[in-house]
Amino acid sequence: MTQTTAESPARKQRAQLKVRTLRTDRWWLAPALTFAALMAFLIYGFWAIFDGSYFVDPYIAPFSSPCLATSCPEGARFLGFAPFGDWYGLPPGLLILGLPAGFRFTCYYYRKSYYRSFWLSPPACAVAEPHKKYTGETRLPLIIQNVHRYFFYGAIVIGAVLTYDAILALVHKPGGLGTWILLVNAALIVAYTLSCHSCRHITAGRLNHFSKHPLRYRAWTFISKLNAKHQQLAWASMFSVMIADFYVRLVAKGVITFPYA
Ligand code: FES
Repeated sequence: MTQTTAESPARKQRAQLKVRTLRTDRWWLAPALTFAALMAFLIYGFWAIFDGSYFVDPYIAPFSSPCLATSCPEGARFLGFAPFGDWYGLPPGLLILGLPAGFRFTCYYYRKSYYRSFWLSPPACAVAEPHKKYTGETRLPLIIQNVHRYFFYGAIVIGAVLTYDAILALVHKPGGLGTWILLVNAALIVAYTLSCHSCRHITAGRLNHFSKHPLRYRAWTFISKLNAKHQQLAWASMFSVMIADFYVRLVAKGVITFPYA
């Protein structure tokens, strides 16, 4: 059998179908649900950033942590540190929003999900997209998605801060429901961050001989197991951070009250 390496012009073209897709299943359901869930997250995040009830000792809402402005209440400041002086009058959460938002926005999994559900590019396998041409992530603006690996380092810091917040809550209020909500959230955020494809690559991506780097190999083996669950962790951590954040705000507003909160 002979093989040719050059593609014929006919093979480069898409199938000439008169209908958008031949699929008969409910292919639209997954992108529709994804769209609804991501929109809910965006709307909640927008509201939360501007909501002033983000701290009630010993809980701090994850969307506003670390709290780095002088407007942060005394106990809410991260390690008592407030590098942004009185001149800063916007919500404290805006100062750190870029790190977790940039990390999720450029995440390989979220890219797939919002390219499908928001840009319909394409909405599902074997369903034609409405756009005339496809340039992918090879040029502006989508080539900027490659900054993801740098957001990973920022996300590690945010994961560490949320873990610190949860441990502080555990020390000061071990029986509080909020403590356990914050602990579960911190665990899911850290698991999602460590399951990142960039993390897997950083751990041992360029090694030729695992046997010469046993520690990195063990780390890579562990990260690879998490990485296989990256999609699930992306959703679980997204919902957990919303739930934890909303819970703390409800306690701070007095809707849910101590001693059990
Ligand atoms: Fe999803 Fe890095 S690939 S967080």
